[in-house]
Amino acid sequence: MTAKNGARVVPPADPCCFVVFGASGDLTHRLLMPALYNLAASGLLPDAFSIVGVARAEMTTAAFCDGLRKALDQFATRKVEPAVVERLLSCVTYVQGGPEDEASFDRLGETLVAIEHKRGTRGNRLYYLATPPTAFTPTARALGRTGLAREENGAWRRLIIEKPFGTDLASAQALNRALLDVFEEHQIFRIDHYLGKETVQNIMVMRFANGLFEPIWNRDHIDQVQITVAETLPVGRRGKFYDATGALRDMVPNHLFQLLSLVAMEPPSRFDARSVRSEKANVLDEIQMITPEEALRRSVRGQYLAGRAGREDVPDYRATRDVAPDSTTETYVALGLSIDNWRWAGVPFFLRTGKALCARVSEVAIKFKQAPFAMFRHTPIEHLAENFLTVRIAPEEGISLQFNAKVPGPSIAIDGVHMTFQYKDYFESAPSTGYETLIYDCMIGDAILFQRADGVEAGWRAVQPFLDAWRQAGPEGLSFYKAGSDGPEEAHRLIGDHGRRWRPVC
Ligand code: BG6
Repeated sequence: MTAKNGARVVPPADPCCFVVFGASGDLTHRLLMPALYNLAASGLLPDAFSIVGVARAEMTTAAFCDGLRKALDQFATRKVEPAVVERLLSCVTYVQGGPEDEASFDRLGETLVAIEHKRGTRGNRLYYLATPPTAFTPTARALGRTGLAREENGAWRRLIIEKPFGTDLASAQALNRALLDVFEEHQIFRIDHYLGKETVQNIMVMRFANGLFEPIWNRDHIDQVQITVAETLPVGRRGKFYDATGALRDMVPNHLFQLLSLVAMEPPSRFDARSVRSEKANVLDEIQMITPEEALRRSVRGQYLAGRAGREDVPDYRATRDVAPDSTTETYVALGLSIDNWRWAGVPFFLRTGKALCARVSEVAIKFKQAPFAMFRHTPIEHLAENFLTVRIAPEEGISLQFNAKVPGPSIAIDGVHMTFQYKDYFESAPSTGYETLIYDCMIGDAILFQRADGVEAGWRAVQPFLDAWRQAGPEGLSFYKAGSDGPEEAHRLIGDHGRRWRPVC
């Protein structure tokens, strides 16, 4: 991103080879190629650079490049300059293979050595697993067995994977163990695409680069925190994945907890990957451990029924392709969490996320305690507006503060007003996929925006009581909501029991 008043100079990444597994798939075409294109167009790729695509399909490099060219025409986020495309494609090689065919990894190794020699990429390799999660462990093991994971002669070898990192605590631990058998933690870059969002990164800057907020960022001044990720889109064509996953697994231990940890963590002593990730993992670890009974009281799970969301007529979730007709998978979840530390004791954190809701809203809202009311007791004022500081991630990225102001006129009347900062008013940014910063950071070895093994496990540990309680409860306790509404009624009851109200979504 570049400020209107001056350009920020960022040097190109380290010389390296970008090896993408799952090269013929959707992620490579829809997101990775457009992101690499944007990096190339911004001068952030090194001169010594190459791309190696690995997939099972038999294909020539020329045919693979044709597919990438078409993908850029279809998915690029900015105008495609033919010269940049040709420069990027001139460094592409395709290798046919997969983890079940170890000889293909030997071939890959030989190809990489030859490319490195030719292009001067110094043996630095970024292995991007754009594969289904079931291939993470076999691919990592095959890289290990064939010696491709080993860092040697000053060359780095890094692995990128993207969520889901397991489906519960035990499977997340097993995945971490398997990856750490082959790679060291400093080589593993776990992507949560929420950390690629500027506004999400800005939470840290807002908190720690301003003296204003930190003194009041605690239980003495904050009444509650609400984290909302509401989507209008229904499950659509993702029925197979979604029905086995549900809203909790899909969104909470990863995206919503990234937001929570940035809001709630202690100030890191340094702005580096070790300090920041340690503080984030610490605060996730401090989410109160609860019994399954308590988990039922502190959660609402809902499933949508037919309605109209966004501009679409949405059928019942259970009528979605690849969804079981008696599915009890939740498409909405609301939780009330507590954090067991001195800063947050007694401050409830309410989280909610769902599909097919009335509006697309992603935000973190911090509500400050009300001012003592006494002074206005003998005036016509019935109630004061709530003091909310809201970080908006979507749709308009920005920050707003709601406070009370006097209504002009002879009598004392007070109304709630908003002071709003919108990113687009201050900064220019070229439309991006959200993966550019993440790929670039991996190429320069900066892991601040990536998840560490302990953080992933702390997230799963905190949601495990809900998963256990819901499994035991089966269909009992599943609520329903109409597509296009703001979620199930029970969610209002959940927060109402704490004497609070949700911020409106619609
Ligand atoms: C993905 C989930 O990780 O995040 C999707 O699998 C969800 O179900 C998406 O729609 C939300 O991301 P964003 O950036 O659109 O808020």
